[in-house]
Amino acid sequence: MDYLKWRLLPLLPLLASLVLFQIWSSLKPSQNECSLLNHKHFWIASKRIVTPKGVISGAVEVKGGNIVSVLGEDWQGNARTKHVIDYGEAVVMPGLVDVHTHLDDPGRAEWEGFPSGTRAAAAGGLTTLIDMPLNSFPSTVSKETFDLKIKAAEKRIYVDVGFWGGLVPENAFNRSALEGLLEAGVLGLKSFMCPSGINDFPMTTASHIKEGLSVLAKYRRPLFVHAEIQQEEGYLDMKDNADDAQSYSTYLKTRPASWEEAAIRELLAVTNGTRSGGPAEGAHLHIAHLSDARSSLDLIKEAKRSGDSLTVETCPHYLAFSAEQIQDGDTRFKCAPPIRDAANREKLWEALMDGHIDILSSDHSPTVPELKLLNDGNFLKSWGGISSLQFVLPVTWSYGRKYGITLEQLASWWSEKPAKLAGLDSKGAIAIGNHADIVVWEPEVEFDLNDGHPVYMKHPSISAYMGSRLSGKVLATFVRGNLVYNEGKHAPAACGVPILAR
Ligand SMILES: *[C@@H]1O[C@H](CO)[C@@H](O)[C@H](O)[C@H]1NC(C)=O
Ligand SMILES: *[C@@H]1O[C@H](CO)[C@@H](O)[C@H](O)[C@H]1NC(C)=O
Ligand SMILES: [Zn+2]
Repeated sequence: MDYLKWRLLPLLPLLASLVLFQIWSSLKPSQNECSLLNHKHFWIASKRIVTPKGVISGAVEVKGGNIVSVLGEDWQGNARTKHVIDYGEAVVMPGLVDVHTHLDDPGRAEWEGFPSGTRAAAAGGLTTLIDMPLNSFPSTVSKETFDLKIKAAEKRIYVDVGFWGGLVPENAFNRSALEGLLEAGVLGLKSFMCPSGINDFPMTTASHIKEGLSVLAKYRRPLFVHAEIQQEEGYLDMKDNADDAQSYSTYLKTRPASWEEAAIRELLAVTNGTRSGGPAEGAHLHIAHLSDARSSLDLIKEAKRSGDSLTVETCPHYLAFSAEQIQDGDTRFKCAPPIRDAANREKLWEALMDGHIDILSSDHSPTVPELKLLNDGNFLKSWGGISSLQFVLPVTWSYGRKYGITLEQLASWWSEKPAKLAGLDSKGAIAIGNHADIVVWEPEVEFDLNDGHPVYMKHPSISAYMGSRLSGKVLATFVRGNLVYNEGKHAPAACGVPILAR
């Protein structure tokens, strides 16, 4: 034994330096590990590049992470570098900016997590996510809890990630607490008008929201609101129908459209303060995941006409599915507000096409299969939230083709307007000076979302989209010029940037 030890002794310095090198390289990912491409200066060429001025055939010049030129057919005459990636007919579009993602990290990383969620994003063509302040633990409602978020995201994100903070009763009337959170860099706030399902994220009333808006006005940042208020109507149904809890229509009755309408009616009594000259001028209110395309939408349209600083989003699952199609016991489709009838879905599409719904977001809100799928298909007990992040681009495209949606509309709903809402001036468009955040995809290529399809989200089995046939295959994703995803492969290192407002 002793003899062996002595023989190994001369090797110790070598071993020690190997270990040190390992530690050093794990701390500082080499530039090459951030990207599957070696070049820092290159062209991305295609016959279909989606720019704010329309779809062009040409090339995008990328240098040092930014877009430095966008040229048409004659680009080759101006090529200052010979490194060209020619994608031919594939579409080159701004990367998607998802303003509504629950990554559940830290604290509930077994539900999703920064690494799995951002790898799924990269594979789906999303280049920026804005993480919601709840479903992680603790909720992001103070400077201290926000620091934990930032720490958890460090070197663990494959795309850029920004953060919303929470507006809750505890901080709503405490200006210095809210200012501390905003100064620390959250891009805006989020609140609920009904129980959120998360204990440390209690609901707010219209008076909390009014206070929140007056603080946000100074920072010119938005407030996201989950707009449903419990009414007697659905609440009583929940108790009466406990026996028939496997039927989707039972769940639907427990959250009628009147809940959305009541919440929006209350909200609009305070959003008038955001009008020019009003006490909350500079603040902005954004209604999350609208499902009711009838009375609620009429109220929103009217408030916009009156000059309220107001926008509204809906999500792919409200556009893809209808209540009539959801099988009894298939709790993958449970979300709040609920997916409503097919006629409502048609109205949502109409409102989106007419510009009354401003943007799309995923509301990717997963959990573990035990909480989503078990309980014998009980819709009243199952977790409410749809898992979708990796698929939102092909889903929007596949279901939208029937309505004649264009590539420009996709870029507007999924990149340009979301970036504007979050205050991200250098993102959301293929334009000179912007970050080179780009998705390359083939709209015409179809695929089956079956067990053989690579899914990077943590729990593929809970996604409502498994089993669908979709159109639109993502080939490559660039984040700040780094090729972070390419045909089934991710860059080795997580070099996404945490985005802090200032
Ligand atoms: C307001 O928030 C600050 C900072 O979080 C805290 O120190 C203070 O105790 C709070 N004030 C009240 C009245 O709760
Ligand atoms: C906003 O509407 C409420 C309710 O109708 C009203 O009491 C309030 O005066 C209005 N505020 C502004 C700034 O217009
Ligand atoms: Zn959500």
